[in-house]
Amino acid sequence: MTVTRVLVVEPHAPETELLTAPAIREAAAILRRGGLVAFPTETVYGLGAVATDARAVARLFAAKGRPADNPLIVHLAAAEDAVRVARDIPPEAWRLWVRYAPGPLTLVLPSRGTVAPAALAGLPTVAVRIPAHPVARALIRAAGAPIVAPSANRSGRPSPTTAAHVLEDLAGRIDAVVDGGPAGIGLESTVLDVTRRPAIVLRPGAVTVEMLEAVLGDGAVVDPAAPLREGEAPRSPGMKYRHYAPDVPLALLDLEDGAGAAVEALRALLAGSGPPPAVLATEEDAARLRALLAAAGVPSDRLRWVIVGRRSEPQTVAAALYGAFRSLRPEAVSRAFFVRLPETGLFRAVMNRVRKAAGDPPFPGQDAAPAAPAPE
Ligand code: TXA
Ligand code: MG
Repeated sequence: MTVTRVLVVEPHAPETELLTAPAIREAAAILRRGGLVAFPTETVYGLGAVATDARAVARLFAAKGRPADNPLIVHLAAAEDAVRVARDIPPEAWRLWVRYAPGPLTLVLPSRGTVAPAALAGLPTVAVRIPAHPVARALIRAAGAPIVAPSANRSGRPSPTTAAHVLEDLAGRIDAVVDGGPAGIGLESTVLDVTRRPAIVLRPGAVTVEMLEAVLGDGAVVDPAAPLREGEAPRSPGMKYRHYAPDVPLALLDLEDGAGAAVEALRALLAGSGPPPAVLATEEDAARLRALLAAAGVPSDRLRWVIVGRRSEPQTVAAALYGAFRSLRPEAVSRAFFVRLPETGLFRAVMNRVRKAAGDPPFPGQDAAPAAPAPE
């Protein structure tokens, strides 16, 4: 068992200052020696290893318990560095990077073959991201190498948004975590496959389809979350379904259609013995549901309310989601309900993660997720 060191940095320091901070120099030295270091990014915490170091990559898969067929994202400090790991980079990629690099956008590109093959799960493509978080950027630059970094959770668990979440999952299994405070957005990057035309969103994130199409043009991006057009075959994102599962069963609760059914389901559950159910909802939706329960005479004092941000400020919902999932303990709650949000803007990414955590298809209109395998 490894002793996991916690290296604390000042999260608001500029990148140039962080480059020489003792914690970053130490973390970079650990990476260069083949170690595993978790660090904050503007999306979630990542677990870093040098991308060209096959032994480090093997250790990384083992530490996460990640299936060998799920490839990793290569993190670079600058878009120009992509030529070191990818080849035949299409013009679409450069146009997107002009607008969204650095940032929460990952592009799938043809691989140059310079990264450890295990990191790419043997695929001919490589996923590339240029993170915006100064701590991540300083660490990549100090290490002087491309860094693979999956989310720093045990496979199957929600992604970590704080160093404490990382330690919850990986203490004793990784060499260090750089604690730079909470990650910003709280959801993983948008993954866009630009080796295909139209490009296809493999994972929705903070860079929305509307934002991608603003650069590439209308119709240049396939959004698996959009309703199927008449006669269109089901869209397969060509990616394994993954779960961000809390430790108790999760289901969706709809307050638009079927509020009555939701109220009756909660009435029945609250009448039973054992731990009560939890409701995950925005401040606004929680107030609405409280009023509905009161009007129906359902005593809701035993209900566990987990407030997940404000509906009027979608970024607060994204930032709170995984912490809310992690707070659900089977000793305290029997099961959990998430009050459904509209599939617009950033809520599309939020609902994609919630549906997967609930074991539902990640995008509406697709077949249900296979029971196994279910990494992430
Ligand atoms: O925001 C993020 O992207 C975070 C931070 C740490 O950067 N990282 C992250 O990595 O979420 P991970 O490993 O948890 O998710 C990477 C996703 C997986 O769904 C993986 O299947 C997909 O990217 N992926 C990686 N390489 C790919 C490839 N060559 N083709 C298709 N999908 C790929
Ligand atoms: Mg992950």
